[in-house]
Amino acid sequence: MSTEKQFDVVVIGGGPGGYVAAIRAAQLGFKTACIDEWQNAKGGPALGGTCTNVGCIPSKALLQSSEHFEHAGHAFAEHGIDVAGLSLNLPQMLKRKEGVVKANNDGIVYLFKKNKVTFFHGRGTFAGKAGEGYTVNVSGSTTDSISAKNVIIATGSNARELPGAPFDEKVILSNTGALTIDAVPAKLGVIGAGVIGLEMGSVWRRVGAKVTVLEGLPTFLGAVDEQIAKEAHKLFTKQGLDIQLGVKINSVTKGDNGVTVDYADASGAAQSATFDRLIVSIGRVPNTNGLGIETVGVQLDERGFVAVDDECRTNVPGIWAVGDVVRGPMLAHKAEEEGVAVAERIAGQHGHVNFNTIPWVIYTSPEIAWVGKTEQQLKKEGVAYKAGTFPFMANGRARALGDTSGMVKFLADATTDEILGVHIVGPVASELISEAVVAMEFRASAEDIARICHAHPSLSEATKEAALAVDKRSLNF
Ligand code: FAD
Ligand code: NAI
Repeated sequence: MSTEKQFDVVVIGGGPGGYVAAIRAAQLGFKTACIDEWQNAKGGPALGGTCTNVGCIPSKALLQSSEHFEHAGHAFAEHGIDVAGLSLNLPQMLKRKEGVVKANNDGIVYLFKKNKVTFFHGRGTFAGKAGEGYTVNVSGSTTDSISAKNVIIATGSNARELPGAPFDEKVILSNTGALTIDAVPAKLGVIGAGVIGLEMGSVWRRVGAKVTVLEGLPTFLGAVDEQIAKEAHKLFTKQGLDIQLGVKINSVTKGDNGVTVDYADASGAAQSATFDRLIVSIGRVPNTNGLGIETVGVQLDERGFVAVDDECRTNVPGIWAVGDVVRGPMLAHKAEEEGVAVAERIAGQHGHVNFNTIPWVIYTSPEIAWVGKTEQQLKKEGVAYKAGTFPFMANGRARALGDTSGMVKFLADATTDEILGVHIVGPVASELISEAVVAMEFRASAEDIARICHAHPSLSEATKEAALAVDKRSLNF
């Protein structure tokens, strides 16, 4: 049965961009609704979008479990811990992951109740103008028609398919299937050595798969600082990931024995490889299907993203868009920051997102994290800079941990010493990078970090030492 409901703000999409926008809007006193269509295995709602259901959260759960397994098999012995009869209980590993996901789904339901956000489970479609605002129809377990002066589109993204190789989530897998493989494949192929390829490739390698990663570009992690990417490539190769760069995929064929990929290698020679499963992780596409944006005249850009200005305004007054469905990095924290900023702008405040200080993390082992400019970017832009690096090998805490791979690298302006970029490959780089983000947000100099007291022994001392190294005065290397 249809009911008419009036809100101040309606958010379409309950991922990190949408649910956070809804909470912030409600905190600011707006009568707020959030619509999300994601269904759990029982057909019920599963708030949190890609990130919570088939992205950030389940991938990190499996990365943690598989790292424990690998440590138990190799690293524990060095610590004097002998593990007898080590075996993998994959169903339990997957069950734990599902539990972690559900805890996050439930957490958002609780947050909506706490903040008085009204949740609608179903698909939201623009139906047209309503007075000063817009009507959005919801079709799901119930049918509703809701309207608001401000609507925030936060519909996220989907995995990009390789032409001729549609996802079946059994043999040819997107991120969704890659997180639910029910038996460790003997041979796993991955197309695309990007963030998903490396993270999911690492998970399945650690639990026993022979993993081959086929990357189209000739350089490994081209967006990452070259020195850091080289170090990571060396470490991943040593771990057993077979990363082949500069390949051209010709065909993907499913057969009785799995899936065969025919490709040309970097030298142009024809190659053929058969895998039990194939993950295709070649980027993601914005999700605007079935949203009815044409009804209200919202425009897309030339790449299919919802076109927005620097402040997430679409071309239609009162309609905003945030997160993966708009330009910029496809990261949960970027989506969240945009969601908060839009809610604040609707309230007449000065919402703020600094694109120069959005951190990136790749949760491999060691982790890779960075913020700001890479050395190759600075060279290209003709910026005079100083560089300082410090290896974890020379850090006491890293030695005690038994994890001395990698380094911290600082790039600072040659004249002003302002920090322009910080790049880390090493243990818990994901946490260490926050200090650099704060420093850059406050436009600190390398000298500022170098003069701040860091706890000993801690991995963060490597950050301080790299800052010291900018002026060639590190103390422990
Ligand atoms: P989404 O999370 O995609 O949410 C959009 C929601 O809108 C979904 O629930 C969808 O069902 C719903 N929806 C769409 N259309 C409609 C409609 N018409 N009506 C109702 N509902 C609709 N980022 C990180 O920062 N860190 C990580 O570690 C990380 N790991 C990742 C790992 C993987 C495997 C993947 C795939 C992604 C990962 N990401 C990570 C990226 C991150 O998941 C996205 O950047 C983030 O989810 C984007 O948030 P969003 O709110 O824009 O969209
Ligand atoms: P990606 O953009 O990170 O990597 C895709 C890779 O595939 C690139 O290296 C590209 O050169 C390669 N490629 C593209 N077409 C190809 C082809 N035809 N043949 C061979 N190689 C090809 O995309 P990915 O890994 O799919 O992830 C999507 C996005 O999800 C990421 O860009 C990131 O924004 C987000 N994400 C973030 C994570 C994190 O923050 N830790 C984790 C996972 C995903």
